[in-house]
Order: sequence, then C-alpha cells, then structure tokens
Amino acid sequence: MSQSNLDQVAVLGAGVLGSQIAWHSAYRGKSVVIYDLYDDGLRNCRNAHQTYAAIYRQDLDASQDIIDATVARISYTTNLGESVAVADLVIEAAPEVPDTKVALYRQLAPHLQAHTLVVTNSSTLLPSQFAESTGRPGKFCSLHFANLIWSLNLAEVMAHPGTENSTLLAVTQFAIEIGMVPIPIEKEQSGYVLNSWFVPLLQSAQTLVTNGVSTPEYIDRTYMIGNRGCSFGPCGLMDIVGMKTVYDILQHWGTVNKDEQMLINADYIKHNFLDRGLLGLQSGQGYYTYPNPSFQAADFLDVPDIASAPEIAHLAEAK
Ligand SMILES: NC(=O)c1ccc[n+]([C@@H]2O[C@H](COP(=O)([O-])OP(=O)(O)OC[C@H]3O[C@@H](n4cnc5c(N)ncnc54)[C@H](O)[C@@H]3O)[C@@H](O)[C@H]2O)c1
Repeated sequence: MSQSNLDQVAVLGAGVLGSQIAWHSAYRGKSVVIYDLYDDGLRNCRNAHQTYAAIYRQDLDASQDIIDATVARISYTTNLGESVAVADLVIEAAPEVPDTKVALYRQLAPHLQAHTLVVTNSSTLLPSQFAESTGRPGKFCSLHFANLIWSLNLAEVMAHPGTENSTLLAVTQFAIEIGMVPIPIEKEQSGYVLNSWFVPLLQSAQTLVTNGVSTPEYIDRTYMIGNRGCSFGPCGLMDIVGMKTVYDILQHWGTVNKDEQMLINADYIKHNFLDRGLLGLQSGQGYYTYPNPSFQAADFLDVPDIASAPEIAHLAEAK
C-alpha cells in the first residue's frame, strides 16, 4: 500500500496525455484502467504505449521485465462504469471542451466508490467549473501533467475553494510516488504556472504563421537560438501537444475572451491540420514530419551556407 493509498487508478480519455499518464502511472507501480469513449481512442493509445515502451527502454534504461510489468498493470476499456469501479483515483484527461468534461463527470459520479478522488488534467479550465458536476467537490481538484511526462516530470496541484485538504495531500503524495515534482498553485489560475506562458507562446507563434510574418521553421529556429539548449520551438511544441487540443484551447478562449486573432488562429489550425487528418506528432505530420522532424537535424541552428542567402533574402522581401 502506498502512502497516498491511491493505488488503483482510472484514466478517462486515452489521447495524447491520457495515454502518457496511464503508462507512466503503471510504470511507477500503479494499477491502471484507461477508458475512452471510442475504440479508435484505445487503439491509438495501445500504439502509443508501444512507442513509450521503446522510449522508456532507451531513455530511462527500463529493463524488459519492468516494461512487461508495466504492460501487465494496464487494462483498456470503453465501459466507463467498469473503468472506475475499483478506482481510488480518477484522472480525467478528456478533450479540453467544458461541456464534454461536465457530461463525463455527471455520467461518472454514480459509479464511484465513496472514497474515490477525482482530478482533472485540464490545461486551461478551472476546477471550480467542474466541482459540482463531480458530485464530490471536496474530493476534487486539478492535477496537471506536462506532455512528455517521463522527462518533463512536473504535476501542478490546484484546488477550488471546496477541495478538502486531505484530497490535496493524497494527490500530492500520489504525484511524488509516480516521480513528479509537485507544483502547488496557491489560487485558481487558468493555465496554472506552466500554461500561463505556454499558451501565450503558442498563440503568438501561431499568429506569426497565420499572418504570414514568418515560417514555422524560422520561428522555431529563432526560439531555439534565443533559448539555447531547448529541444524544440513553439511550432514543434504545437505538434507535440496535438493539433486537436491546440484547436480546442484557441477556440474556447477565443470565444470566451472575444479574441478575434485567437479565433482566426483556431480556424487556421482547423483548415490546415484537423480537416486534413494531420494531428501533429501522434499522426506523424503537423508543422513537421515525424520521425526525424527538421528541427532535430544536427545543422538546424547552424549558420547557413552562403549559397542560401538569395533564398533567405527573397523571404525578407517586402510584400
Ligand atoms: N496534449 C497536451 O500536451 C496536454 C498537456 C497537459 C494537459 N492536457 C489536457 O489533457 C486533456 C486531454 O488532452 P489530449 O491532448 O490528451 O487530448 P486528445 O484529443 O489527444 O485526446 C482526448 C481523448 O479523449 C477521447 N474522448 C473524447 N470524448 C470523450 C468522452 N466524452 N469521454 C472519454 N473520452 C473521450 C478521445 O477519443 C481522445 O482519445 C485536455 O484537458 C488537455 O487540455 C493536454
């Protein structure tokens, strides 16, 4: 039994983040059931788990025995009641669409045991928006993970005014048990700490692309030279986040804040990526092509050959 007593975990939503949280929690010894509304979601998740097995072997030196034990601790289902029946902790990683999350919490509530805690992994929405719909506001808060969980190992813990202290303690213990650095958020904030700069960063990069000011590669090159040591820039980051979630965030906050540029950017993502089935890293194509995106090339940040000057100067011509 762990200190948190949160050993049986259900993850709702088997997309980019849900699949990472499920895999990593199982890798760190938790029993995990992952639920998705769609068979396709589970299929993509199983594929992602094969990729993570390879990454954990290579980057974390995980032995085959540990990988096999991780796989054995995960099950997959499209049955919501079944997924949470024995859960001590439910981690909601459904799309960043408030109505979808509210409907899921309402549907979920009757299936939970009395002691079960529920957290949302929402990137930008507040736990107070959902507390009532969970039917257990005291046992609910946000626990926000970063993409590439095995390497960017932080978990932001954010309460709403009705969250019980015992919930925050257990959730913080859980985060530590699975190898996260917990980041306490002292008052509700859309985007916590991390996305308080990541979302504006993505929005400003997308605005440069949408308005034809620069290309994704030059935007990322600028960012990666300006922040030496970074492994990707904001357009690469959009691919990693996934174009569906980038779209959901821009569309939601563009509407709420009546931000015209944000809505134009959402539209750009929809027409250029979602409508063409290009979801970013998970589908192998977004701003970059995977594997081996150009921003990972050894010479991406090098001073170019002088023979490329005419091409670069041409891009800089006034339009
Ligand atoms: N992608 C990121 O980098 C990232 C980082 C941190 C937090 N988050 C947050 O995690 C949540 C999930 O984001 P994502 O990027 O994994 O999204 P995603 O689009 O990759 O995955 C969402 C999954 O939910 C499934 N789904 C759709 N409707 C559902 C429902 N009603 N019930 C259960 N499953 C349903 C979809 O089939 C899909 O598999 C969002 O709140 C997002 O803001 C995302």
